[in-house]
Amino acid sequence: MGSRRVFSGIQPTADSFHLGNYLGAVRQWVDLQETRDAIYCVVDLHAITVPYDPAALRRRTRVAAAQLIAAGLDPERCILFVQSQAPEHAELNWVLGCITGFGEANRMTQFKDKSARGGADQASVGLFTYPVLQAADILLYQADEVPVGEDQRQHLELSRTLAQRFNHRFGETFTVPAPYILPTVAKITDLQDPASKMSKSSSSPQGIIDLLDEPDAIRRKINRAVTDAESVVRADEVAKPGVTNLLRIYSALSGQKIEEISAAYGDSGYGKFKKDLGELVVGTFAPIRERTAKILGDPAALDAVLLDGGRRAREIAGGTMAVVRDRCGLPPAA
Ligand code: TYM
Repeated sequence: MGSRRVFSGIQPTADSFHLGNYLGAVRQWVDLQETRDAIYCVVDLHAITVPYDPAALRRRTRVAAAQLIAAGLDPERCILFVQSQAPEHAELNWVLGCITGFGEANRMTQFKDKSARGGADQASVGLFTYPVLQAADILLYQADEVPVGEDQRQHLELSRTLAQRFNHRFGETFTVPAPYILPTVAKITDLQDPASKMSKSSSSPQGIIDLLDEPDAIRRKINRAVTDAESVVRADEVAKPGVTNLLRIYSALSGQKIEEISAAYGDSGYGKFKKDLGELVVGTFAPIRERTAKILGDPAALDAVLLDGGRRAREIAGGTMAVVRDRCGLPPAA
């Protein structure tokens, strides 16, 4: 102990994570287990802020946890659990919601984007207060750092504000968390629409590479990725956003610098570059896919791992909540 604590979460809203989740978040989670006191969470309470099917949620929560373990999270070296198994998250959410301004919550751009999609009147109050629950997740564990992609920066800013506000009003209670965002992988973009981030809610599945995609689907999607007419493999954010995105993915998976990669392929066209990139992604994802299937073959064992993680998480979260109750003038839990 004594090492810095990291906390992060991921939603079980799809049947597979995608390459953006993997490079922007999950890979850092795996690395940080080695040097930090790490706690990771499948945030099912966040997933129910939009209309959903309970059977699909149950399945996706297990698939999410299985993918995380298959990608390298080791329940011996981190705490991995399911958010709703620790009811302290919902409890602190309420307390923090009471010190969050309506206008402040209303400025969250993800809420604006998501609610605009289904019509603002249809959006749930849960979707509106989603970032407050996220702050509760982080603050319960006194996390120093939160490894995420660029799209979570505003939510983390709110977490910091709420920690500081609570500390100021009720006395020093929460660690103020810092974002841990790696610029090179913070925003992986859609292969068909390089101006948009790769996202579960993308309009075309061709633009997203899923962690659990069949190897041939991965090769095909990369082969058809939008590029440009120049046929020179070089990074240029403005003129060549598609190729630049592919270079970032290549660099993250191979460990080679972008300059080295563009020097190696030069102006020989995109064919060989895309073919090699496809093999790099398949080489990384295929073993994860196989391990995920194996883990899902024994759901009782997986549930036991998660239950154990939930218990360990609750020991920390319960300690924080006892202090929070006291600071707020609430009696101890019965
Ligand atoms: P979620 O489930 O949408 O995404 C999980 C993680 O993947 C990152 N990410 C990306 N990174 C790079 N490029 C992309 N195209 C890309 N798409 C997604 C996200 O930034 C995220 O790190 N609100 C969070 C879940 C959450 C959470 C938390 C995170 C709930 N509580 C507490 C941290 C701490 C979310 O919706 O992530």
